[in-house]
This record gives sequence, C-alpha cells and structure tokens, in this order.
Amino acid sequence: MALSPPPSALPQMRTLEKVALLLVPVFLAALIFALNFSGEFHLLSRGNLRLSAFTSPTPDGQSAAAPPPGPEFRLLMGILTLGNRYLPRHRLRMLHALQPPVAAQIDVKFVLCNLSRDDEKTLVALEVMLYDDILILNCKENMNGGKTYSFFSSLPGLFGGGANGSGRPYDFVMKADDDTIFMFPKLVESLRIQPREDLYWGHLVPAANGLPLFMAGMAYVLSWDLVEWIASSETVKNHTVGPEDTVVGEWLRDGGRGKNVRSTRAPHLNFDTKPVSYDYPYPPYTFVPNTISVHRLKDDDKLAETLRYFNVTAGFKPSKFYHL
Ligand SMILES: *[C@@H]1O[C@H](CO)[C@@H](O)[C@H](O)[C@H]1NC(C)=O
Ligand SMILES: *[C@@H]1O[C@H](CO)[C@@H](O)[C@H](O)[C@H]1NC(C)=O
Ligand SMILES: *[C@@H]1O[C@H](CO)[C@@H](O)[C@H](O)[C@H]1NC(C)=O
Ligand SMILES: *[C@@H]1O[C@H](CO)[C@@H](O)[C@H](O)[C@H]1NC(C)=O
Repeated sequence: MALSPPPSALPQMRTLEKVALLLVPVFLAALIFALNFSGEFHLLSRGNLRLSAFTSPTPDGQSAAAPPPGPEFRLLMGILTLGNRYLPRHRLRMLHALQPPVAAQIDVKFVLCNLSRDDEKTLVALEVMLYDDILILNCKENMNGGKTYSFFSSLPGLFGGGANGSGRPYDFVMKADDDTIFMFPKLVESLRIQPREDLYWGHLVPAANGLPLFMAGMAYVLSWDLVEWIASSETVKNHTVGPEDTVVGEWLRDGGRGKNVRSTRAPHLNFDTKPVSYDYPYPPYTFVPNTISVHRLKDDDKLAETLRYFNVTAGFKPSKFYHL
C-alpha cells in the first residue's frame, strides 16, 4: 500500500558521470552487446554492471580486463498495472533508466491480464516492440480477484527453473504497484543480505483481528522457492480472491511458509525505526534519506515533490536549448 524512493543517488551519479566520460567506448560496446544479444531493454538498465569493475585499475596501471562479476542476485520486479495506464509505465521506465548502477540484475515486467480493447492491443504492442517489458497473463483484468495468483503461479511455466532450487531463473520475485517508485541502490542494499529461501520481505503489517501478518501491496518480495510452492499448491489455488496483499499473507500462514519475515522497517523487525518503504508521506510516515520506495504517487505534484526530496534531477545539465 505504500513505498518510497532512494535518496542518495546524486553523489553516486556524479562519480558515475566522470567514470562514464572516460569509458564511453566501453559503454558503447556494452550497449551494442546488450542490444545484439539480448534484445531486452532491461539489460540496458545497467542493473548487472558493477561500478567497481570499471574503476579499479590493476597495479601495473592497466585497466582491469576481468569481466564484471555476476550480479549478486536476480530480482524479477512484476509491476501490476492496466493496459491503458501508459503514463505510469512511462514514468517508471524513465525513473528506472536514470537509476545509478547496482550490483544486482533487476528485470522489470509490467503485468497485465488479457487486453479487451482493440486500441490497447495496438498501443501495448508498440510498447512490447520498443521495450519488451510487458507480461500479459491469461486472466480477465482484476485487482483483488486473483490477478496476484495468476502472476506468481504463471512464473515457473514462463521462466522455468528446477523444482528443487537448481537453475532457478530468479532469486527473488517482487509484486509492486504502478504508483510505487524505487531507489534501486537502497533496494539492492536491503535484498542482498536476505535469505534466498522462504523469504517474505516488505512493509510489514502485523497480524490483527484474524488477519495474518502480511506485507503491504505497494511492494513485497518472495524468494523463488515460494513462487514455485504457490504455483504447485492446491490449497493456494483454491484461495485466490480477496485483498491481494492479505491473501498472500494467508497463503503463507496457512501453508507454514515464509518463515524468513523481513520488514522494511530497516534493517529487520525494528519497529522503533522509521519505515523505508512507505506511502507518500502521509502521517505517520516521513521522507527519510535511506528510503527504498515510496507509494501512492498518483499525481504529478506528489511525484515531483518526492523526486525533489531525493535529488533525482541533480544531474540535470544546463543548456542554451532549454530552461526550467
Ligand atoms: C539532496 O541534496 C542536498 C544538497 O546537496 C543534500 O543536502 C540532501 O541531503 C540530499 N538529499 C538526499 C535525500 O540525499
Ligand atoms: C485470454 O486470452 C487468451 C488468448 O486470446 C484466451 O485463450 C483466454 O481464454 C483468455 N483468458 C481469459 C481468462 O479471458
Ligand atoms: C533436483 O536436483 C538434482 C541435482 O541437483 C536433480 O538430479 C533432480 O532431478 C532435481 N529434481 C527435481 C525434481 O528437479
Ligand atoms: C477448495 O475449497 C472448497 C470450498 O471451500 C472446499 O470444499 C475444498 O475442499 C477445497 N479444496 C482444497 C484442495 O483445499
């Protein structure tokens, strides 16, 4: 229900700019490689490059020839949205492309159910051709009618992976809303130290009034083993309708899963610290510098205020061609 953006992007971006200027040919080669061999836009998001791989010359003064190390983890970020929500997708693609580099692979997919309108079929086809970041599930569009189940349960079939943990395509899978923005460096900082098994990570809402402990729908993460379990469980399949975030908490409670509960009241279950994933700061939430995500950024004013707080436009270059 609420998340927040990362704050410390600016100094890192300045450093990156200097490095990038020196290494334009390297980046061009990497871009050409990514375009030729993957055809997937998400590989251009610098998600799996480590800045340190470009900044540490060897002792004899030659630049390090070793390939960048592999990503620390792989995250599939599934953003549930609707066919005609072109503007939220546009905002998120811009914000993702402007993130500082991180040492993890973050693959974003915008998740839809069957499109019913002809105009959407044509316009969404353009997005697929340009970005290839759309996932259309076999379902009728809904929010609390089982779309979240359709999402998680379709992933093993779509991406493969061994049932016993071998060859899993992702370490983690996130379900996020399309009005939640992220600070990738802070997200990676949090996820890299989490267990790869039985993980349930997010903005924790404690159990109360018969409802289970659950992570608010703005953004939560399950480890891949739980995704496979969801896809294979007959009891989960029987219980897909209801407030989607609460229902996930019920699956895990009733199935005895998700024992590695991690709250974004950082670093762990510390209720004295301010949440780092939250709704646009409606009380009691406030912007905090180590924010991972901000949620409910539905209008331009709130989005712009949030981006200003986190200095997202600090790398903006003056020019005779424009003025703000
Ligand atoms: C944004 O930049 C200002 C000025 O450099 C700095 O004081 C502030 O801490 C930065 N905010 C965040 C969230 O990093
Ligand atoms: C979604 O679309 C596919 C392909 O047109 C169709 O086979 C399927 O029955 C549809 N599913 C639902 C739930 O409408
Ligand atoms: C589990 O992994 C082993 C090797 O690690 C493999 O031989 C076996 O087929 C796997 N089982 C399943 C169900 O994937
Ligand atoms: C599914 O739900 C129905 C109705 O609540 C129940 O009768 C049935 O036993 C359930 N099946 C499973 C596998 O849980």
